[in-house]
Amino acid sequence: MWGELVNKIWELDPAAHSRLEIILLYPGFHAINLHNLAHWFWKKNMKMLASTISFYSRMFTGIEIHPGVKIGRRVFIDHGMGVVIGETAEIGDDVLIYQGATIGASADGHKGAVTRNKKRHPTIGNGVIIGCGAAVLGNIEIGAGSRIAAGAIVLQNIPPNSLVVGAAGKVVPKQPEASPVQDNSAQLEELFTKLTKLEKQVENLTGHFNGK
Ligand SMILES: CC(C)(COP(=O)(O)OP(=O)(O)OC[C@H]1O[C@@H](n2cnc3c(N)ncnc32)[C@H](O)[C@@H]1OP(=O)(O)O)[C@@H](O)C(=O)NCCC(=O)NCCS
Repeated sequence: MWGELVNKIWELDPAAHSRLEIILLYPGFHAINLHNLAHWFWKKNMKMLASTISFYSRMFTGIEIHPGVKIGRRVFIDHGMGVVIGETAEIGDDVLIYQGATIGASADGHKGAVTRNKKRHPTIGNGVIIGCGAAVLGNIEIGAGSRIAAGAIVLQNIPPNSLVVGAAGKVVPKQPEASPVQDNSAQLEELFTKLTKLEKQVENLTGHFNGK
């Protein structure tokens, strides 16, 4: 099984200069093989051992795959650093995943006991490409042959052979418009004149009472 993965990587990646380089130095290759081992123990209900293998695999490769994930054949994780694949995800054959992609649960999937042992993560069809930094979240299906662009955020089912780009935009509430500055100089002028008049009258009255 690992032989066909080496051939697949050789076929896809022009940066590989020999098959030996892929076997010795490709973190995606190591992560998949260690995952196959971890998943075997997981299915035998040796969950602690399975999780320990995943833990060390993550330390060496930078790729986090939960041992419960079902992964098909010839899945190539290119570069790999920062890839996260959650427990109930299912990955088809010939899937290509770039660094930083998350195949995870949506916020709804993190409700402790209510969601434990329930399908919370995506099912990825055969031949799908998931670009770097993309987030595919929730119990959704990505149809075979679809391409998820780098940086895309996917929260719903995607039909086969689709191209998905971009993050869903959100409406940000508008700030109330600042009221324009009013010119009150005319009223101030009028008030000032009235005050001066009043001051004069008070002066006159004071003089009158003082007998001036
Ligand atoms: C999704 C992808 C496979 C599409 O490739 P493609 O079929 O050659 O498509 P194009 O490049 O012709 O782009 C098609 C449209 O999608 C848009 N698009 C492509 N990638 C996009 C992205 N990541 N974000 C937003 N829009 C994107 C293009 O601007 C184009 O739009 P337009 O038709 O309005 O001009 C590719 O863009 C991609 O993101 N691949 C992942 C690569 C990656 O992660 N590399 C890491 C290497 S280290």
